[in-house]
Amino acid sequence: MIIAVDGPAASGKGTLARALAEHFGLAYLDTGSLYRATAVRLLAVGNTDPTEDEATKAADTITAADRESPDLRSEATGQMASTVAAMAGVRASLLAFQRNFAANPPGGATGAVMDGRDIGTVVLPDADKKLFITASAKARAHRRFLELSASGDPTSEDQVLADLIDRDRRDAERAQSPMVQAPDAHLLDTTELDIDAAFLAAKAYISGPAR
Ligand code: CDP
Repeated sequence: MIIAVDGPAASGKGTLARALAEHFGLAYLDTGSLYRATAVRLLAVGNTDPTEDEATKAADTITAADRESPDLRSEATGQMASTVAAMAGVRASLLAFQRNFAANPPGGATGAVMDGRDIGTVVLPDADKKLFITASAKARAHRRFLELSASGDPTSEDQVLADLIDRDRRDAERAQSPMVQAPDAHLLDTTELDIDAAFLAAKAYISGPAR
């Protein structure tokens, strides 16, 4: 069982994907963490304007420690992740790891849930189930603001909203694997849904007829 979960920043796809993986006994991969880890590597050496070559080398050499960096979830890392995610070399570098995770899920799991921007369209177009999670920009900015404040990242809700709109535009307009709902994906708008309600809606879709 392979489940693809895509959608814009702070739509709740990560929380949902993790809960689905737990419920169905599947392995979970946050593919955004690979792009974020690439950004962490570049920012750690002060490279704020990498060439495609430099960014691709960073993607080629990310480690588990990079994916666990305390800076992984910061706003600056998210913006840099979205900048390098537009580069073909970076995407090609991270593609094999993602497909291999789905083909050989760790821990003896019989399948995987992977969340990102292009899982249902490019990484795993044959996924058994595809969800596209969205929510209004305002609702997403509010959620991300609460997350960032809780982790001590000093910011304002207006700034978070502006950054989020900026990042969504970059992710949707890029030439390489743009963020777009796959034609055969199930759309779930979580603007008015809490985590439990979103989980129930997603579970009902997954337990329903094959796509
Ligand atoms: O958690 P959040 O929704 O803020 O973002 P994320 O999933 O951690 O992804 C960070 C950035 O990585 C995104 O803005 C995308 O530019 C990029 N990304 C991507 O291009 N493709 C993916 N499959 C996952 C992330």
